[in-house]
Amino acid sequence: EFDKCGISWHKPTVKRSFQNLESIAGVQTNNPSIIDLPLTQAFQAVVKSLGDNDVMVILDNHITQPGWCCSNSDGNGFFGDKFFNPDQWILGLTKMATLFNGVTNVVGMNLRNELRGPKQNVNDWYKYMVKGAEAIHAANPDVLVILSGLNYDKDLSFIQKRPVSLTFKGKLVYEAHWYAFTDGQAWVNGNPNQVCGQVAGNMMRTSGFLVNQGWPLFISEFGGDLRGTNVNHNRYLNCFLALAAELDLDWALWTLVGSYYFRQGVIGMEEFYGILSWDWIQVRNTTFLNRISALQLPFRGPGITRGNPYKLIFHPLTGLCVIRKSLLDRLTLGPAIYLMVGNTHPRKFYQ
Ligand SMILES: *[C@@H]1O[C@H](CO)[C@@H](O)[C@H](O)[C@H]1NC(C)=O
Repeated sequence: EFDKCGISWHKPTVKRSFQNLESIAGVQTNNPSIIDLPLTQAFQAVVKSLGDNDVMVILDNHITQPGWCCSNSDGNGFFGDKFFNPDQWILGLTKMATLFNGVTNVVGMNLRNELRGPKQNVNDWYKYMVKGAEAIHAANPDVLVILSGLNYDKDLSFIQKRPVSLTFKGKLVYEAHWYAFTDGQAWVNGNPNQVCGQVAGNMMRTSGFLVNQGWPLFISEFGGDLRGTNVNHNRYLNCFLALAAELDLDWALWTLVGSYYFRQGVIGMEEFYGILSWDWIQVRNTTFLNRISALQLPFRGPGITRGNPYKLIFHPLTGLCVIRKSLLDRLTLGPAIYLMVGNTHPRKFYQ
């Protein structure tokens, strides 16, 4: 009747979901209007509030059992796992797509976060991902449909040989995840330029190639410890930002939140990857915020003229760009809105 988080799925209201957690007092103070709503209605209220504040939403089917994600043996990783019944999954996708049909700030739906584990295989990926994509499309033709890869959403290489065949066009997106720990401690142990070359090359083979084939690729998770003390994370972030600028990738940072009401058994755990501070009031690291802000500029795609003679040299460590006001001037760093004129070639700087 109650799962391991103390949630009753028979009559789940926000209050009952939080009954074992201290944070209910905070919800009562700050969001009293949702406290007695069933969870689905509370979710709708949150999405509406985001829309009222001009925030677009992508619905993410993260994990079947509530909790911190993920491991190979958590029973949530692949179709047919203990807690991952494909038929229920299709019903769930259909329900969510229907619920947000006509809600204009819901712009996309992902099918499943980080497929993984011993059962994963390419044939079932095609079988079920195509079904899931078509189910979303049938219930809500307006949303982008976002397909995630195998092996914790790191591997879409199989698309190269076997394209996905769907009944709809123009709104298919692929997503991938990329963190420092994707490559273990490689960034600490190796020369950062060489590691970046290897890791970026691998990323191009496993997902980046899709950009060159004309598909939108959404890096739906990246990030690191924003205190700046983890060398592995710092070096990876420089490389990530360089490649994201070069390919003009779409991205979502893990994460906005400064802390969790409950994570891995800890109440109020701090999130050092979070843009916000523990109390969600301040920005954790404004330097980092400036660096990713530069990536919000479009570098490719509609509106950016083909054969544009302007070249941009992006400096990932600062998020600034190399600026030269005239051909005779010294090179300096400045905001990316100033484009450099001339016959230079774009280069990426990893350090
Ligand atoms: C922000 O990150 C930079 C590294 O990118 C680091 O040097 C700095 O100390 C960090 N600032 C804070 C307040 O954590």
